[in-house]
Amino acid sequence: MDFIDNLVLPQSPEHMELLKDLLILTYILFIPYITLLLGSTILSYYYSGRGIKEENSSFISFAKDLIDLVTFTKSVAFGFAVIPLFSALFCYAQLLHENPVSLSPYISLTILFLFISLVFVYTFKHSFHLKDILSQVDENKIDSDVNHYKSSSVKLFNKSGKYAVLFLLITLYLFSASIELSFRVQTYTETPSIIDVLISFSAFTYFMYLVALSFGLTSLVVLFKYFRPNSETKVKSEEYSEFLRTKSLSLGIVSLLIIPFTVALNIITKPGTALTSGVFTLTIIAILGLLFLGNFLYVMLKYANTRYTTSSVFVFLIILCLLIVKDQLAFSSSTHKQYFVLASAFADYEQKMMEEMGGGAAVISGEDIFNGRCIACHKFEEKLVGPPYNSVLPKYEGKQEDLVKFILNPVKVNPDYPAMPNQGLKPNEAKAIAEYIVNMYQSK
Ligand code: HEC
Repeated sequence: MDFIDNLVLPQSPEHMELLKDLLILTYILFIPYITLLLGSTILSYYYSGRGIKEENSSFISFAKDLIDLVTFTKSVAFGFAVIPLFSALFCYAQLLHENPVSLSPYISLTILFLFISLVFVYTFKHSFHLKDILSQVDENKIDSDVNHYKSSSVKLFNKSGKYAVLFLLITLYLFSASIELSFRVQTYTETPSIIDVLISFSAFTYFMYLVALSFGLTSLVVLFKYFRPNSETKVKSEEYSEFLRTKSLSLGIVSLLIIPFTVALNIITKPGTALTSGVFTLTIIAILGLLFLGNFLYVMLKYANTRYTTSSVFVFLIILCLLIVKDQLAFSSSTHKQYFVLASAFADYEQKMMEEMGGGAAVISGEDIFNGRCIACHKFEEKLVGPPYNSVLPKYEGKQEDLVKFILNPVKVNPDYPAMPNQGLKPNEAKAIAEYIVNMYQSK
C-alpha cells in the first residue's frame, strides 16, 4: 500500500483539522448505512428461510421488504458505502503519514470485501424477485425448462443470501479492526502483524457494537417506514401490521439494551491515550439516551402505539452521530504526538518549497528574526538580559542541532541568569536563527 502513502504531501495543521472533520462526516454516512445493510440482510435471510419452511406469507413479505430497504438503487451503496470508505482511506493516509503504522492495507481490504458483499446482496435481492416470478408460472403448464430454472433460482437465492450475510460480517469485522488500530497507532513503534490486529479483543468489541447497532437501526427504520404518520407504505393486512409492529419493537428494545453494554466495553478496551473527558461525556450521554429510548420503545410496545416512531428514529440517529464524534475525538487524542510530527514535516516542506521557488522575500531570514526577537536580550559581545552570544556559542560548535533544540525549547542553564522565555518559534525559524548567529559569531 506504499503507493497510497506516497501520494501524500505534508499538510498544514489547519488542513489536518479539516481532514478530521471530513472523517467524521464520512462515518456519519458510512456507519448508519453499512449497519442498516447488515441488519436488513440478516433479518431478510432469516425470515425468508423461515417463511419458506413454515409457508408463512407474512414472513416472506417481511423478508422481501427488508432487503429492499436500503438497496432500492445501486447508487445508494456507492454513495453511502464505497465512496465514504475511499475517502476514509485517503484521510488516514494523510493523517498517519510518516507513522510506522499504516491503516491503508486494512481499509483497502475492507473495501474489497465490501465489493464482494454488495455483489451477493444484490444477487440475493434479484434472485428473490426471480424466484417470485417463476413461482407465478402455472403449475400445470410447467415444462422441464421452467422447473430447472425454478430449482436453480431457489439454490441461487439460498446461496447468495448466506454469502451476503457472511461477507458483510467479514467486511464489518475488518472495518472494526481498522478503527481499533487507528486508536492504537501511537502505542506501536513498528507495524504490528496482521494477526495481532485482527485477533484483538478491542476489534471484537467494536464489531459487537456494530452488530448490535445493525439490529437496533434496522428495527427503528422498519417502524419508521410503516408506522410513521402519513406513511405511504401500505401494510396489506391488519395481521401483518401487528406482526411488523411487535417484531420490530421487541428487536429494537433488545438491541437498545445491548448497544450501551458494547459501548461501555469499547471504552474499557481503548488505550489510555484515547480517553479524554470529552470522550467520557459523550459516551455517558449516548448510553443514557439509548436506555431512555429503549424504555420509550417498551412503552410503545405495551400500549400498541407507534405514534412516536419518527422522533425515536431521529433521536437514535443523533445518538449515533454522538458516538461517531466520540470515536473521532478518541482518535484525535490518541494521535496527538503524530500531529506534531506532521506539523514539523509540513514546516520543513514549506521551507523547501520556498527555497526551490527561489522566493528570496518569502525565505525566513535569521537576521530578521534576530532583529525582531532576540536583540532585546542578546548582543554578541556584551551581556544584556541574556549572556553575550560570543560566550555561549563556543560550546555549540559543531552541535547546531542542540542549539536549535535550545532555541525551540529553552531550559535553565546558567544560575547567574534568569531562565530564557520560550520564543514560540517554528522549527524552520529556529534553524534559520541558529544558522545566522553561528555564522555571525564565526565571521568575527
Ligand atoms: C526576554 C529575554 C530573551 C530573549 C528575547 C531571548 N533570550 Fe536567549 N537567553 C535569555 C537568558 C536570560 C538566557 C540565559 C538562560 C540561562 O542561562 O538559563 C538566554 C540564553 C540564550 C542562549 C544560551 C544558551 C546556553 O546554552 O547557555 C542562547 C543560544 C540564546 N539565549 C539564544 C536566543 C535566541 C536565538 C533568541 C531569539 C530568537 C533569544 N535567545 C531571545 C534571554 C532571552
